[in-house]
Amino acid sequence: MKTNFLHFETLVSTNLWAKEHASELDRQQMTIISANVQTSGRGRLGRSWHSPAGKNIYATFCFFVDPRQNDLMNLPQIMALAAAEMLEVEGFPAKLKWPNDLLLSNKKIGGILSETRMVDSLLCFSIGIGLNVNLSTEDAAMIDRPVTSLLIESARLFDIEELLQKLAANFQVKLDKFLVSGFVDFLSDYRHRMVHEWHAQMQFSDSQKLWQGRFHGINPDGSLSLELPSGEIKKCLSGELS
Ligand code: BTN
Repeated sequence: MKTNFLHFETLVSTNLWAKEHASELDRQQMTIISANVQTSGRGRLGRSWHSPAGKNIYATFCFFVDPRQNDLMNLPQIMALAAAEMLEVEGFPAKLKWPNDLLLSNKKIGGILSETRMVDSLLCFSIGIGLNVNLSTEDAAMIDRPVTSLLIESARLFDIEELLQKLAANFQVKLDKFLVSGFVDFLSDYRHRMVHEWHAQMQFSDSQKLWQGRFHGINPDGSLSLELPSGEIKKCLSGELS
């Protein structure tokens, strides 16, 4: 798939732009929409995503797939793997918090918000990624949970565009492979990059309630198994760990 980059100085949200313009985009290509600043960046579960100007990657990868394609729900995990690998090449041993948060030093450095919509007979994926690159300690302190950035971890400034290009190239390779063989070829790498340790205590919340349990591994379909105090194994498909 060819890649087309669209960069904006200011957007409300790159995901929102993708959603509003999906039907106008070339269906044979991947369009990567990025912005220098987002005035209302969006996170998962209705949260906002702190998006100060010129500090971080704010990008949405927009592409079209056959809705009958296998394992499509794992695509955000493929993006998380691509970003973790890119960070590793840059010298940062990033870990993944299920399902697709990126962590460094146990703090969040990146997050992924994936949205889909049908455009004619194709499924349009908009996979948005926010990656804290040159976020300062002062900026990080304004966020209500522990976060970090490449600058905070290394006291070095990074070229945001160059990192986005590297991420795009890496995701492209993984996407091509994924579209042929699905999630199975990525499972082992995904499991190895998990921050969770076997049997560690964790809390999982879904739309129903908060569950307490112990980490019991990642299933072949990318879902997480939680061992409940009763010994029952709960399969977690979507929700959040805390
Ligand atoms: C999360 O809550 O962890 C997901 C955060 C996703 C943020 C990115 S920044 C680029 C894209 N545009 C948005 O409005 N959100 C995503």
